[in-house]
Amino acid sequence: MSHDEFPTDHPAVVTCGLPYANGDLHVGHLRTYVDGDALSRALRRIGQQTAFVCGSDMHGTPVAVNAAKEGVDPREFALEYHETYAETFPQFNVEFDNYGHTDDETNTELTREFVRSWIDNDHVHEKEIQVAWDTEEDQPLPDRYVEGTCPYCGEHARGDECDEGCQRHLEPGEIEDPVSTLTGNPAEYRAREHKFLRLSDFQEYLQGFLDRVEGTDNARNQPREWIEGELQDLCITRDMDWGVDYPAREDEGAATEDLVLYVWVDAPIEYVASTKQYSERVGADEYDWEQVWKVGGEERHGTAWDDDWTHEGGEVIHVIGRDIIQHHAVFWPAMLRGAGYNEPRSILATGFVGIDGKALSTSRNRAVWADEYLDAGFHPDLFRYYIATGAELDTDVDFSWDRFQERVNGELVGNVGNFIYRSLLFAERNYDGTPDTEVSADVQKRIAEAIDDFETAVREYNVRDLAEVATALSNYGNEYIQSEEPWNLVDDDPERAEQVIRDCVQLTKAVAVLLQPVLPGKAERLWGQLDEQGSVADVSVDAALEAPPAEFDEPDELFEQVEDDHIADLNAELRDRVAAANEDDEDGDADGAEDAADLEPLVEDRISFEEFEGVDMRVGEIVTAEPVEDADKLLRLEVDIGHETRQVVAGLARLHEADDLPGTRVILLANMERAELFGIESNGMVLAAGDEADLLTTHEDAPLGTRIK
Ligand code: MSP
Ligand code: ZN
Repeated sequence: MSHDEFPTDHPAVVTCGLPYANGDLHVGHLRTYVDGDALSRALRRIGQQTAFVCGSDMHGTPVAVNAAKEGVDPREFALEYHETYAETFPQFNVEFDNYGHTDDETNTELTREFVRSWIDNDHVHEKEIQVAWDTEEDQPLPDRYVEGTCPYCGEHARGDECDEGCQRHLEPGEIEDPVSTLTGNPAEYRAREHKFLRLSDFQEYLQGFLDRVEGTDNARNQPREWIEGELQDLCITRDMDWGVDYPAREDEGAATEDLVLYVWVDAPIEYVASTKQYSERVGADEYDWEQVWKVGGEERHGTAWDDDWTHEGGEVIHVIGRDIIQHHAVFWPAMLRGAGYNEPRSILATGFVGIDGKALSTSRNRAVWADEYLDAGFHPDLFRYYIATGAELDTDVDFSWDRFQERVNGELVGNVGNFIYRSLLFAERNYDGTPDTEVSADVQKRIAEAIDDFETAVREYNVRDLAEVATALSNYGNEYIQSEEPWNLVDDDPERAEQVIRDCVQLTKAVAVLLQPVLPGKAERLWGQLDEQGSVADVSVDAALEAPPAEFDEPDELFEQVEDDHIADLNAELRDRVAAANEDDEDGDADGAEDAADLEPLVEDRISFEEFEGVDMRVGEIVTAEPVEDADKLLRLEVDIGHETRQVVAGLARLHEADDLPGTRVILLANMERAELFGIESNGMVLAAGDEADLLTTHEDAPLGTRIK
């Protein structure tokens, strides 16, 4: 079944993966929140009723372990971080309509209701399983209290997640070679009774769900592999104190007394609870959480589901990082279904943010912290722009201060800021504001196209394009003003000058409207410069075509250059920190991670297929290889590439024996510009990988001269 196009008749809710209330926020976390915020603003902009909700994830071992390290009560510990997060998000212009937490009453109540529904609908059963146990401490070791090897991919894994490898969820007892994180001792396995949600009840449903769900490719495709074969039961209880108590039936009270629900039960339910709190605050007339979340309204809620229920409620859109796809695309829809709730319409899983090709690490301080960014004094919108538009949503990126500077100075200062300032200053000086004439048909059409592009970007959840629509419009404006030169026209052709400036002021207004989801603070200020009334957050996308006020004051510059000195300082600090973190890695046992440290970061900029087609690479064979006089690193090669034999000078002498090379099939970059090395012409380049110059060759025997494509 396909979904209605946005804006739909139903309310929408955009949610963000809940931050664990267990440490400082870094730029990786912020990617989830900035993208979620921009998308929710953009949906509103095109007329979709939208709530934007989140909350802190207070329970589970991620919180309990860190609280214990500091010797603090987990509730107190988590509440402190919760409050910090609630203050930090607005500083990045991330404005949730409701920000709750999983330990509040709304969520704990709703969680128990969910679980009771599953029990009533016969999706829960009890089973004896082997759980890891620390014999020295004489206590069970749920989730992050144990580390070991992932049974699926063999990487080092912690407790319930294969965080360094295949990203799979791990059930209690699954981790191999378990070691207690409390004492470092090998853990024992002991038999315990636990409660399970029977995911196999939802197998067919989930297959259909994955066909319907919208969002990023990773979220729609990866889970297919995970639901092949019979789905394993999901253990929904843990031997712990900290969490939501398992809602026991009267007759089993004592047996379940010391069980709490697994954190991944009450955490996603906070999406519903937070929406409910929002609804209760503004009134159901304005926003009805049940209309969004419940299938077929109250009367169907809580009863057993049947197979023709599909997407019936509001539009639920989850924004998460790619590490928690399985929880959102497999467990969560089953949990919702089992309790008679509506399924998500879309799951957007962002790529990861790393540094120098390595994952961020809170414990090793390999990160750029949210506070650090704010302390550096940069406007929050600059970070938003950088992180939301640097790559496609689902692509991994490396955080780089250099790239940040380059994009801010080039795109925001150089393009957008420059156009707006020139236009508004000229308008104010010569006409006291907007010239008294109509917008030209061409510019009107160009803005209408931008509005269309913007709407398409929202419908495709393409956060990157949202901002690009506005920067492209500003680019158009810059070219327009530059080619028309109104400063030369004012005297010779005042009418034309007036027309050009009228158009530019309109373009400026359109830029404010379209840029607002990604740069809400800057767009608001620009709105003020145009002397527009109210907030740019409240207008619809069509406001881009409405006339700006006749008068406004002299503008000031919207963006400031990011200075080289400032970036140099930030870089130096980050380099030291990363070096220390890498040393920690080497001290640790994660050998796989060490290799990754040497990898160069992936290039963020994509090239087009046409650009690739301009690269002429051919299958060749080395015919001759001999040293180059006076150059101890170089070899002179003759490479047969079918059409002809090329002479190439290559830096292979220290890495390969010249005598071994003749007869080796290689790949030659044939249209490399010619060069002269030690008086010998080099007419092409042999491709090789890494510092050891591992020569690229062919797997089978494509004829010499075959083009690589
Ligand atoms: N508490 C869970 C989510 C529960 S949702 C019902 C969690 N918390 S987290 O604090 O680890 O992550 C919060 C958000 O940040 C998640 O969306 C997560 O995917 C995202 N990211 C955490 N580190 C990240 C990067 N290094 N890069 C990109 N996103 C990252 O997971
Ligand atoms: Zn794994």
